[in-house]
Amino acid sequence: MTAPVVVVRHAIFPDVLEELRRHAEVLDNQSGTALDGDALAAALARAHALIVPAHEPVDAAVLTAAPALRIVANIGVGYDNVDLPACFARGVMVTNTPGVLDDTTADLAFALLLGAARRMAEGDAFVRAGRWETGARFPMGLDVHHQTLGIVGLGRIGRCIARRAAGFEMTVVYHNRHRLAPAEEATVGASYRDFDELLATSDFIVAQLPLTPATRLRFGAAEFARMKRTAVFVNTGRGGVVDDAALAAALRTGRIAAAGLDVFEDEPRVHPELRLLPNVVLAPHIGSATLPTRHAMVRRAADNVIAALAGQDPPDRVQG
Ligand code: DGY
Repeated sequence: MTAPVVVVRHAIFPDVLEELRRHAEVLDNQSGTALDGDALAAALARAHALIVPAHEPVDAAVLTAAPALRIVANIGVGYDNVDLPACFARGVMVTNTPGVLDDTTADLAFALLLGAARRMAEGDAFVRAGRWETGARFPMGLDVHHQTLGIVGLGRIGRCIARRAAGFEMTVVYHNRHRLAPAEEATVGASYRDFDELLATSDFIVAQLPLTPATRLRFGAAEFARMKRTAVFVNTGRGGVVDDAALAAALRTGRIAAAGLDVFEDEPRVHPELRLLPNVVLAPHIGSATLPTRHAMVRRAADNVIAALAGQDPPDRVQG
């Protein structure tokens, strides 16, 4: 029997690659550049499984190029990059990597929250430019401790963010499509608020939403207008939930105080105004980017592929 074929477009950890090779023929490019052009077309033509990072589109064109495909294993918890209806119509399974990146992403959300509140990027630029040495004054920041944190999207990662907030003795409120059971709210230490009420009363607002038709552009000019003028907005979920032009305008006009952003509406392009504003801390979608977490994510994607190719239901199968 010929071995199934797994296509890995980007470099991954060698030990995971070795494990995959015990179960399949692996077509990959570990040189640091993605498998592309004719090599990619030839690989997809034979692929039974495709392993992709969560920023890479898997659309109808990819599916057409891969007629034998059985599974798309996304390295990431979000899977808005994958055209689910097209996959399901073709009988292609889709998996993600939930659970292994929650704490790491929550760490980054808190880093951005603290960085924006305490003007860390501005402080860094200030010191590097020698301005401190010339006696210039550095502008004041905002307190984080004992303030109100509003989490929009209290899923696994949101709960990890809430736990970190407890260390800063913050009051935590949240908004979800579906309210949690009272016992769960008590465990997390978060109280439910209507969306508008959360926007109006929170000192810090963290968006940790997946990108779906219902969440697209959830934060626009009207939402920023409801926030406190001293509010700090953080997004570590998906860029498409925010109208970046409206956010830039809110930051420029002082409608809100500051922002910390790991994700952008049109990644990897960043709204030009956001790049110029001093009161926003920017990161290049690195929420899960630590070695142990990325390794766990890639390992999990490989486990899903190995299970699917063995005829089992992969553990992290996304349901239609
Ligand atoms: C995820 O897992 O969805 C992270 O955003 C990494 O892409």
